[in-house]
Amino acid sequence: MGIIKDRFKAKSDQIGLDIKALIKDHGNKKIGEVTLAQVYQGMRGITGLVSETSLLDAQDGIRFRGYSIPELQAKLPKAPNGSEPLPEGLFYLMLVGDLPSEEDVNHVTSVWQRRSHVPNHVFATIEALPVNTHPMTQFVVAIMALQTESQFQKNYAKGMNKKDYWDAVFDDSMDLIARLPRIAAYIYRRKYKGGEHIQPNGLLDWAGNLAHMMGYEDEGFKELMRLYMTIHADHEGGNVSAHTTHLVGSALSDPYLSFAAGMNGLAGPLHGLANQEVVKWIYELREQIGAEVPSKQQIEEYVKKTLSEGKVVPGYGHAVLRKTDPRFTAQMEFGKKHMADDPLVNTVWNIYDAVPPILQSLGKVKNPWPNVDAHSGALLVHYGMVEYEFYTVLFGVSRALGVLSSLCWDRALGFPIERPKSITTDLVKLWLEGKGEIWGD
Ligand SMILES: CC(C)(COP(=O)(O)OP(=O)(O)OC[C@H]1O[C@@H](n2cnc3c(N)ncnc32)[C@H](O)[C@@H]1OP(=O)(O)O)[C@@H](O)C(=O)NCCC(=O)NCCS
Repeated sequence: MGIIKDRFKAKSDQIGLDIKALIKDHGNKKIGEVTLAQVYQGMRGITGLVSETSLLDAQDGIRFRGYSIPELQAKLPKAPNGSEPLPEGLFYLMLVGDLPSEEDVNHVTSVWQRRSHVPNHVFATIEALPVNTHPMTQFVVAIMALQTESQFQKNYAKGMNKKDYWDAVFDDSMDLIARLPRIAAYIYRRKYKGGEHIQPNGLLDWAGNLAHMMGYEDEGFKELMRLYMTIHADHEGGNVSAHTTHLVGSALSDPYLSFAAGMNGLAGPLHGLANQEVVKWIYELREQIGAEVPSKQQIEEYVKKTLSEGKVVPGYGHAVLRKTDPRFTAQMEFGKKHMADDPLVNTVWNIYDAVPPILQSLGKVKNPWPNVDAHSGALLVHYGMVEYEFYTVLFGVSRALGVLSSLCWDRALGFPIERPKSITTDLVKLWLEGKGEIWGD
């Protein structure tokens, strides 16, 4: 076994024993109550999952294995002459549970480089789609085409011992993560750059190589990719992409099938597609007023118009967070450092001034503050990546780090198939009349 696999195995064996003891000694303890409203309203606030890689606090934001984003920016190893964390380091932290050394991070980079070969049939499958197909659809189709490479699926068909599930999931996850930058860059160059593809550079780190293969050699863009890939990787277990990957994986669908399912969820406008919606929304605002930098008053009027048309303001609000998303703040800091005069970035900051009071005044929006998607697009546009339909693919490449390291934990800890109970409104009515029973009642 490789050193990372050895460390993961040792750590997960120990946590597995801890969990066994926890369930034995405290398995009957109640951790909450569930109201009828919660069942009807997206299960909000119901604790029902274990996801070891990160934890979201409504006020404080995301912490990966206990570390906040600013802490990770300080503590994780960087590329030579770089100042943003390498996403390889975050992956190691989420998988193994400890901060990596520079040597550990270099090791992850070289493992992914070695495993990054994408078979030709994957490119042929992408080519079979019309070029105007949404990049997220091309991405998911490519991941499905790559499923031919799944070790888990092959070993399962041969009759794998359940004690070995984690091993094959680990290998599939490493292979898949290693191959995603090539696939994403291929889709980008195919759709927007006339199919002129750029070969990988074996000397670059994972995110730097993604920038290179998409055609961006600016060091600033490579740094942005390292930050972007780090901050979008995980947001605890209940969000749509993480939960879907976990759920589908619980049926012992292999990591390719599970991750593709999660990416279909990320492609929804209330989840990962919001980053493209934000830039689209700002472009439409600019077009309408005929100016590059709208005034605060013009932004306020446009927000009110959006709301009056029954639409959401993209990039604002969150199901769990109740403060400005620290991922928004990290990107704002990056903007101040690298592009303080950029008109689109300044517009994002002006929107940040204008939107929260308006959403607050509606009296129903639980979180009027910006989320990660409110900022990401403007930074990409600054470096010339204006093709906003592609942004969710970048989000997806990053999200693989969190959901696949989590999937390794799911199998290592032997989590069973997920199967919550559902009810019907007829049953609820009967129950209210004292004539029926809801399970667990
Ligand atoms: C993220 C989001 C889906 C969370 O949904 P949620 O947990 O149901 O949010 P809330 O409980 O605050 O919703 C209460 C009401 O406020 C509305 N609301 C929430 N965020 C809003 C926004 N940004 N613009 C307008 N209305 C919003 C909801 O649509 C809902 O209205 P309804 O009762 O008429 O259906 C929601 O805030 C949203 O749609 N945001 C815009 C899309 C986005 O940025 N997504 C990326 C998330 S990382």
